Amino acid sequence: MDWGLQNRMSRIVRPEDGRTVMLAVDHGYFLGPTHRLENPRATIAPLLPFADAIMLTRGVLRTSVDPGTDKPMVLRVSGGTSVLQEDLSHETITTSVKEALRLNAVAVALSIFVGARHEHESIVNLSHLVNEAEEYGIPVLSVTAVGKELEKRDARYLSLACRIAAEHGARLVKTYYCDSFHKVAESCPVPLIIAGGPKLETEFDALQMTHDALEEGAIGVDMGRNIWQSDFPVPMIRAIRAIVHEKATVKEAAGILGEAKAKGSKR
Ligand code: 5RP
Repeated sequence: MDWGLQNRMSRIVRPEDGRTVMLAVDHGYFLGPTHRLENPRATIAPLLPFADAIMLTRGVLRTSVDPGTDKPMVLRVSGGTSVLQEDLSHETITTSVKEALRLNAVAVALSIFVGARHEHESIVNLSHLVNEAEEYGIPVLSVTAVGKELEKRDARYLSLACRIAAEHGARLVKTYYCDSFHKVAESCPVPLIIAGGPKLETEFDALQMTHDALEEGAIGVDMGRNIWQSDFPVPMIRAIRAIVHEKATVKEAAGILGEAKAKGSKR
């Protein structure tokens, strides 16, 4: 790995423990003003100090993040379809590598849609992005997206999708947690991080999922809704951090959240 690429990777995945807590706030690129992300600046600002890296679009980066920040930015560079379409797989590369460099991004991110109508285009998009981004030492994070078909999230499907992402040159793969997640992790030769998916019934469930994913081979999370749709987003990201970076048990992490709730503290 070239020095530049290695250096960018080390800004996302902390070299001390090989783990990461990424905060995902890119949802607006196809969902529009998602619940509790209506005002991105207001959502991001209090969470920024607790994230290792932020995943977002250029529009939100330019308008809603202070350029004085030293947090590494992972730029979503795919899009082209809205939630109004039944099939969300019709994406293309929407933001150039030049723009990513101009914005000082540490990585670029793109979704692939394995098994969907536009599977071919999305995988070819990934390959083209890897070809170009790696020329400049920029790692590509590939998201194994499932569109509206959330039921696709099982070990057989996710193993296929993650392996395809890695084979095409992604340096980091973002996928979903599922039963037998260890099978997905074991067959993917690059580090895996998990999305949270739609908000789970309880915060405890999201903490448990994070814990289990790490136990089974993930190196961290790139989580959005299960953090910022919580009534206590800062304590929630602190609890997630405790699991990822401090090897906290689910009970210990839930304690961080419980304490904040008991005090009515949003910190
Ligand atoms: C959409 C994405 C989102 O960033 C991803 O889903 C993470 O957010 P959440 O934890 O809310 O699922 O990549 O394709």
